[in-house]
Amino acid sequence: SDPDPLQDFCVADLSSGVVKVNGFACKDSNTVKASDFLFRGLNKSGSTNSTFSSKVTSGSVQNFPGLNTLGISMNRVDFAPGGINPPHTHPHATEIVYLMKGTIIVGFVTTNNVLFSQKLEKGDVFVIPRGLMHFQQNTGSSKAVALSAFNSQMPSVQILPFSLFGSSPAIPDDVLAKAFQISYEEVKNISSKSVPS
Ligand code: GLV
Ligand code: MN
Repeated sequence: SDPDPLQDFCVADLSSGVVKVNGFACKDSNTVKASDFLFRGLNKSGSTNSTFSSKVTSGSVQNFPGLNTLGISMNRVDFAPGGINPPHTHPHATEIVYLMKGTIIVGFVTTNNVLFSQKLEKGDVFVIPRGLMHFQQNTGSSKAVALSAFNSQMPSVQILPFSLFGSSPAIPDDVLAKAFQISYEEVKNISSKSVPS
């Protein structure tokens, strides 16, 4: 869903520190190399020794400059058994998930609050419409690995527990208490555990 490019490529000049309205400034094309179009970051498994027992390794334009203006990117997600990718949204992108290894459930919720969820086996592909809240969980007894591709060079992510309970500055306790029908104590308890990592 990114805008169409106006040239063959525009390898991001990340060092310029300048973000144009859409994407990064282009590197001087005389300095562009074949390796600018190669990203070797998704070959390694991410450490699942984390709060959610999962790890998203991002292959978006910030670490893969060749993607700049091309409207596409890819992540790898590693899950330990039981591990989750917590409820989140990508405001800028539709996501297509290919399960390389293991068994997961994946689901998204529509703007009418209907959950569409499926169990994926190795080789299955599932699509998550742009912007909708979704999650995954490894329901198998061994490691699971998924590749997620996006129609944006920078899908961006809002992780709901962090957006709601871990923002800086914090959303007022009273807003969260009323929104979730919980006590201030419970707001404090959830907030203390919802520290963005
Ligand atoms: C999976 O949902 C991902 O965002 O990488
Ligand atoms: Mn996602």
